[in-house]
Amino acid sequence: MSRQPRSWLFVPADSEKKIAKAIESGADALIFDLEDSVAGSEKARAREILKGLAPRAGGPQWWVRINPLRTEEHRLDLELLGKADIHGLVLPKAESGADIVELQHRTGNIPVHAIVTETAASLFGLLSYRDVKSSPLAAMSWGAEDLSAALGAASKTDRKGRLTFPYQLARTLCLAGASAAGVQPVDGVFADFRDEPGLIEEALDAARDGFTGKLAIHPAQVGPINEAFSPTDEQVREARSIVDAFAADPSAGVLSVNGRMVDKPHLIQAQRVLDRAGE
Ligand code: COA
Ligand code: MG
Repeated sequence: MSRQPRSWLFVPADSEKKIAKAIESGADALIFDLEDSVAGSEKARAREILKGLAPRAGGPQWWVRINPLRTEEHRLDLELLGKADIHGLVLPKAESGADIVELQHRTGNIPVHAIVTETAASLFGLLSYRDVKSSPLAAMSWGAEDLSAALGAASKTDRKGRLTFPYQLARTLCLAGASAAGVQPVDGVFADFRDEPGLIEEALDAARDGFTGKLAIHPAQVGPINEAFSPTDEQVREARSIVDAFAADPSAGVLSVNGRMVDKPHLIQAQRVLDRAGE
């Protein structure tokens, strides 16, 4: 899996049964969780389970969500490095680029996926991820659950079930911050895992806005997410005709393709679609 993962499936790392299911789920990336979904009393056992997983060739990327910086559990989680097959680390409750630098001092260049909107202060730090030198940052995602707890909200949705303004803001700042930093923007979890139409709608909205993947919490969410973040045949055809038109006429700034005006932003967008389609 060298392309950016479309689906990032969380698995509580203390459940061997769920780990086995997750490996077979078709997710592009798994996130073995040592943070919020694992009780304090089970964290040590969860680390042992991760150490015991046999390394493999191919299959989904293996990421580990460690505990937040400056906690005792965080220090213990980092002892896993070198002892378990880990592609990258997911850092929760990240507040700024300085947090990435702090983690990098301890972990070197192992890729980092930061969850960047989980505290009140984090909303003021979204541009700072751009400024980290030789950054190991590979992806940024946003979270509404911890943020609503931090802000003291009664709910993150309105009466019609739509995200209220603070969470739409967090989502947009994550997207813009990730794009500014040149890393993958990943949409947050859709918690109601039995509502497939709701998930599909949210994932397609995210793909339209520029996210290229989404967090998942249940294997049933993987298929719809992979589909929502795969360009359709029609999108690929359209992108191909734009790229070909500019290749055939390298001095052109603006062209007409299939009856539409296309210029530089359309070409960039078309190249992105082809990259995501693996072409
Ligand atoms: N990864 C792998 N397997 C999972 C899974 C996951 N994230 N979520 C559920 N499964 C398994 C279940 O164990 C169950 O297996 P079984 O048929 O062998 O019993 C099967 O899929 C169906 O699960 P279901 O009964 O629909 O859900 P559940 O009530 O067992 O679990 C949750 C619901 C929310 C507890 C579970 O989906 C979960 O643990 N999700 C991840 C939570 C997490 O990591 N949160 C942190 C990030 S926000
Ligand atoms: Mg959390």
